[in-house]
This record gives sequence, C-alpha cells and structure tokens, in this order.
Amino acid sequence: MIPDTDDSRLDDRVILITGAGDGIGKAVALACAERGATLILLGRTVHKLEQVYDEIKNNGWPEPAIYPMNLEGATPADYDELNTNIDKEFGRLDGLLNNAGWLGAPTPIEIYDTELWYKVMQVNLNAPFLLTKACIPLLKKSSAARIVFTSDDKSSAYWGAYGVAKAGQLSFMQILADELESKNIPVNAVNPGPIRTRFRTMAYPAEDIRKLTRPEEITGAFIYLLSESVTETGKTFKPEDF
Ligand SMILES: NC(=O)c1ccc[n+]([C@@H]2O[C@H](COP(=O)([O-])OP(=O)(O)OC[C@H]3O[C@@H](n4cnc5c(N)ncnc54)[C@H](OP(=O)(O)O)[C@@H]3O)[C@@H](O)[C@H]2O)c1
Repeated sequence: MIPDTDDSRLDDRVILITGAGDGIGKAVALACAERGATLILLGRTVHKLEQVYDEIKNNGWPEPAIYPMNLEGATPADYDELNTNIDKEFGRLDGLLNNAGWLGAPTPIEIYDTELWYKVMQVNLNAPFLLTKACIPLLKKSSAARIVFTSDDKSSAYWGAYGVAKAGQLSFMQILADELESKNIPVNAVNPGPIRTRFRTMAYPAEDIRKLTRPEEITGAFIYLLSESVTETGKTFKPEDF
C-alpha cells in the first residue's frame, strides 16, 4: 500500500520527469515542485513545458529546468549530452520518472504499419532504456535515488506496439530493480488505471471523461516512490494500492 503523502517533502531532490508538459507527468511535476523538489521537465512540446515552468515559478517553488526532447528521434548521443548537461548543472539525479507515452494508432496486427510499430516501440520502450542507461551514473551520485515508470497492462486486441512496449517496460523495470538493489536504488512502476488525459481520450474517444479520475488525484503514489521513504523495489502499484 502507498502511505499517505500529504505531509511528504522532497526538498533538495533533483527529479527528471518525462512527458512533464501534460497529463500525469504535469500533475506529478507540480506536486513534486510543491513539495520542494527541483524538476527537470523533459518533453516534446516546448510551450507545454513552459506553462509548467511558469506555474512552478509563479507559486514560488524551486526553479525547474526545461529539457525539450523528442523521444521518437533522440539518438544515444542526445542521451549522452543530457547526462553531461545534468551533471554540469546539478551534479546528480535523485529521481527519474519514465512517464512519457504514446499510443500510436489502435490497429490489428495484420495491418499494423511497420514504420509506426518502430516509432511506438522507440517512444515507449527504447527511449526509457536509453534515458535510464544515461541517467544511472547520475543516480549513483545520489544518496537516495529512485526510478519510477508509468506503466500499463494492455495485452488485448488492437493495442499493438503500445501494449507490447508497455509489457517490455515492466520486464525492464524488474531487471533494473534486481540490478540496482545492491546500490540501494528502488525501481518501481505505477499502473494508474483510466485517467482523464489526452492519451486516454485518444484511446477511448467516445468515453464520458467526467467519470474518469483526474491526474491530480493519483500523484501520491508517484511522490512516495520518488521520495526517500520508499522501501519497496520491483513492484507495480495499481489503483487499489493508493
Ligand atoms: N491516461 C491513462 O488512462 C493511462 C493509463 C495507463 C497508463 N498511462 C500512461 O501514462 C503515461 C502518461 O500519459 P498521460 O495519460 O498523462 O497522457 P498525455 O497527457 O497524452 O501525456 C503523455 C506525455 O508524453 C509525452 N510524449 C509523447 N510522445 C513523446 C515523444 N515522442 N517525446 C517526448 N515526449 C513525448 C507527451 O508530450 P506532448 O504533450 O508534448 O505530446 C505528454 O507530455 C503514459 O506512459 C501512458 O502510457 C496512462
């Protein structure tokens, strides 16, 4: 179970969040900043990242950094550069949230566009691998580093590359948790269930969004897993846990 995080603080923690400009990533970024964390806001659309930056600044929370990056086209060299930039600016990383995700297009496998398959796998599976790999040396410089994934469980018809990538991401999370246990770096996932975001509307366009949980209502699980308090590793937390 996720403990109550109403009074949790994340002061002086440097946390990188992908997909920080919208939906769940944005809500978690704001909640972390409110608790004193310094955020590196990574995302694709600059004006969305700037909006989150402004909201954080206007509230008087620690000034974040914006890191525009399209995970679809980013190369290993771009991730090396990111490592160098964070090292220069902050000298370490205390938290990494692999949150960015892209549905692609719900399609039967028989007619799934091969190019689209590669792109969806790149954003949802290869990018978290490349980013996490680049960040491990920075995370090792922290006294209490944590890694978190926003996961999903979609192994039914038409979910295609998204469903496959998210299944792979869970294995990746568990492999990392195992490898990093001796370094005291917990690695966990949050499977949030249906949340009122652009992603959800793309997947279920006819749904009444008023019935869906808002991203702001699920930030507690992420705060706990990115905090110094977390004891679990290799686990996936679902709505019944928070
Ligand atoms: N909402 C749900 O019901 C639900 C359920 C289970 C799991 N999830 C997972 O939750 C995570 C967040 O999704 P969300 O629901 O919050 O949807 P969202 O509002 O659409 O957010 C997705 C985020 O990922 C970013 N992103 C997508 N492609 C990217 C790329 N190529 N490069 C960089 N950033 C990229 C988006 O950036 P832009 O805004 O710039 O496009 C956006 O900030 C995803 O991993 C998703 O799989 C969501």
